[in-house]
Amino acid sequence: MRLAGRVAIVTGGGKGIGAEYSAGLAAEGAKVVVADIDANGAKEVASKIRSDSGEAIAVSVDISDPHSTDEMAKAALSSFGRIDILVNNASLMSALPRRSWYEIPVDEWDQVMAVNLRGMFLCCLAVYPSMKEQGSGKIINISSGRILDGLPNRLHYTTSKAGVVGFTRALAREVGDDNICVNAISPGFTQSETQVKTSSAQYMKAHIDRRCFKREQYPADLVGTVIFLSSPESDFMTGQLLNVDGGYSMH
Ligand SMILES: NC(=O)c1ccc[n+]([C@@H]2O[C@H](COP(=O)([O-])OP(=O)(O)OC[C@H]3O[C@@H](n4cnc5c(N)ncnc54)[C@H](O)[C@@H]3O)[C@@H](O)[C@H]2O)c1
Repeated sequence: MRLAGRVAIVTGGGKGIGAEYSAGLAAEGAKVVVADIDANGAKEVASKIRSDSGEAIAVSVDISDPHSTDEMAKAALSSFGRIDILVNNASLMSALPRRSWYEIPVDEWDQVMAVNLRGMFLCCLAVYPSMKEQGSGKIINISSGRILDGLPNRLHYTTSKAGVVGFTRALAREVGDDNICVNAISPGFTQSETQVKTSSAQYMKAHIDRRCFKREQYPADLVGTVIFLSSPESDFMTGQLLNVDGGYSMH
């Protein structure tokens, strides 16, 4: 129970990897705000945590909308009284067709930036007053291993996830005096429901073949790193990118 008494918000917590982060944080004693644009998904995850004797609420949020992210922070404060951890996990990814950069509609480019980058900025803005007042906080931003290799066919997505790293480093410097840690994780190709549905067996096999550990990567493989970055064990770490991919890329 390394996170007893802590309050965590997980965006995109209603399914996929975010659902595993939510359950993992709750199992370590955190009170979890499962925040997702998919309100039903968020409710299911929060309800499962409660039935496993954890504490959780579900919040419907569109992270690209400042009013909505403010409401998310208010809901966390009114239910649990503080915000210690923000896992910026929600993003547009599997909804995006894999296609040549030249075929990406300009509107789709803008939408990806609005969710994956502006959304992250808005969530940080929403929780910052509480973390500043407490004099502590942990912000964990989810990037992607794609940026290390420049994987093609989702140029907007890859660009946004590279932006996450610059955002993480600069924000870490800006909030160091408030004792807020800001770090990022770059997951490798991970078997979330949506990834499995939208990826060919050949694409998945190519990832496994290049890893040091020749097996699929599961959402559970990422949970320990999120707990570490949420816990006091990482209190002197900030502005860093931790790559978790079974040795696909060496970073
Ligand atoms: N699965 C992978 O292989 C992989 C690899 C590298 C990085 N990632 C990153 O890990 C994170 C989770 O991946 P996943 O596979 O579980 O993705 P996913 O698409 O299954 O889940 C994303 C979640 O974000 C939510 N969401 C989307 N737009 C939102 C918005 N505007 N406001 C609030 N919530 C919104 C979705 O409803 C969904 O629950 C993402 O940031 C993804 O980019 C995933």
